[in-house]
Amino acid sequence: MNASAQPDFPPVCDYEGSGYSQDFWQNQGRDYEDRVERIALRRLLPPRGGRRILEIGAGFGRLTNELAGFEQVVLLDYSRSMLAEARARLGDERYTYVAADIYRMPFRPGSFDAATLIRVIHHIAEVPVALNNIHRVLTPGGTFVLEYANKRNLKALLRYGLRRQDWNPAALEPVEFVKLNFDFHPTYMQVAVRNAGFQVDKRLPVSYFRVGALKRLVPAGTLAALDSLLQQTGLLYSPSVFTLNTALGNGPDVTGEPLVFCCPWCGDDLAPDGEALTCVKAGCGLRWGKRDGIYDFKEPV
Ligand SMILES: C[S@@+](CC[C@H](N)C(=O)[O-])C[C@H]1O[C@@H](n2cnc3c(N)ncnc32)[C@H](O)[C@@H]1O
Repeated sequence: MNASAQPDFPPVCDYEGSGYSQDFWQNQGRDYEDRVERIALRRLLPPRGGRRILEIGAGFGRLTNELAGFEQVVLLDYSRSMLAEARARLGDERYTYVAADIYRMPFRPGSFDAATLIRVIHHIAEVPVALNNIHRVLTPGGTFVLEYANKRNLKALLRYGLRRQDWNPAALEPVEFVKLNFDFHPTYMQVAVRNAGFQVDKRLPVSYFRVGALKRLVPAGTLAALDSLLQQTGLLYSPSVFTLNTALGNGPDVTGEPLVFCCPWCGDDLAPDGEALTCVKAGCGLRWGKRDGIYDFKEPV
């Protein structure tokens, strides 16, 4: 495929240069949310870790230290500035940083035995395409931990019942409440994940106590302990849902080999070319660079 012949790709919610870590997490009263997400993640990741995990939409690496059981951790994000922040926090020793779009990931099929997608799919306009891409880069039997924003949450049900909200939380289709911000119905997501070739193993309701007044009154540790109990009920009326999924199928498994990138635009092999990597395919030939410790597969150099 010629570079200029690239079809249009879905829009991306661009975090480049955003103050996400300071404006959303640091001293922003979200200690409870951070704790319960870690509890859910620990519950769902394989207890013995694995070879190579892909953290998609890793942001500034908030949750990356939870992936320590894996021999290699690859952080992928569309935003170079987010990855630069992650790298400044985490260093290079155990981590690989990749700037790329979930719709065009630069990996060979079967490169990972696990992947996470946490607080990201609510920005994804083409959910089936993104989920198929994740399935493609996982080995058969690979683990996929997905978090999504649940439209059928208690607050939305109440607001709809009181006619303070026009969209129906029980309707299956996703709701885009702000541009490129979607909430999903658990049944919609279950079907989408299955259609992408996964078996859905577990679904945990998370963050039931995401209410400002409650969080101010009750210590985060207490709320997190209660949330941890509720996670095991399977009652999916919380604002966030974590799911554990297994990749089905007979694809390749290259997790025993060193990580090899491929051209995100045409999928063909890349050859080293000084500091860059060049696509070997005739008619493509795109060059991809590495800057400040981050592989850059967003735009060719
Ligand atoms: C809300 S942040 C979550 C970051 C991290 N997972 C966390 O929980 O702290 C969403 C992240 O998804 C990334 N993102 C959004 N759309 C993306 C896409 N199409 N491809 C790759 N990353 C994307 C953003 O750049 C941002 O860093």
